[in-house]
Amino acid sequence: MKVTFITGNQHKVIEAKGIFDKFGIELEHANLGYPEVQGNLVDVARYGAKDAAGRLGQPVIVEDAGIFIKSLKWFPGAYSSYIQETLGNKGILKLMSDVEDRYAEFRSVIGYCTPKSEPKTFLGTVKGRIGYEEKGNHGFAYDPIFYPEGYDESFGELTTEEKNEFSHRRRSLEQFAAWYKKFKQ
Ligand code: IMP
Repeated sequence: MKVTFITGNQHKVIEAKGIFDKFGIELEHANLGYPEVQGNLVDVARYGAKDAAGRLGQPVIVEDAGIFIKSLKWFPGAYSSYIQETLGNKGILKLMSDVEDRYAEFRSVIGYCTPKSEPKTFLGTVKGRIGYEEKGNHGFAYDPIFYPEGYDESFGELTTEEKNEFSHRRRSLEQFAAWYKKFKQ
């Protein structure tokens, strides 16, 4: 059982390897790149997986993620990467300075595809809230302003290991791995 993870992010590869080991799935890594279509996370993951599987001639997974803030009409969502680079966490906090409803969630979608099949997607979510200031220096991007449900610490204050225990990516990867194992037997 072998699948290739298409990503430029080495942290994602390490995280996925840890999870797949438990399921007895062998993971290879390729930094191929793929076109990111306009659309939601599922659209991006489906299109990217199909494109990469076709070019590589092998079963692949890709991942697309983002943060969704309820009071901002679920913005920035699929635009998380762009918004992080432009507004940044300080911009988000400013936008929300008078907002009482702080609910937010991270979502991760794994897209799986083979050269001969249509893509399939797997969603992982972690619920939480946006804080009032940046806290912690672990993790990346929105981690210092995101407080997972039931925690007084932000993702930025948790170690990578603690975050990876229940991250959105952990959950989407596990969904995929459980399905893949069953489907392949
Ligand atoms: P990507 O799909 O992993 O490229 O994620 C898109 C963007 O969502 C990233 O550039 C980050 O801004 C944000 N993001 C995704 N996952 C996380 C996370 O675990 N912590 C913080 N930000 C994240």
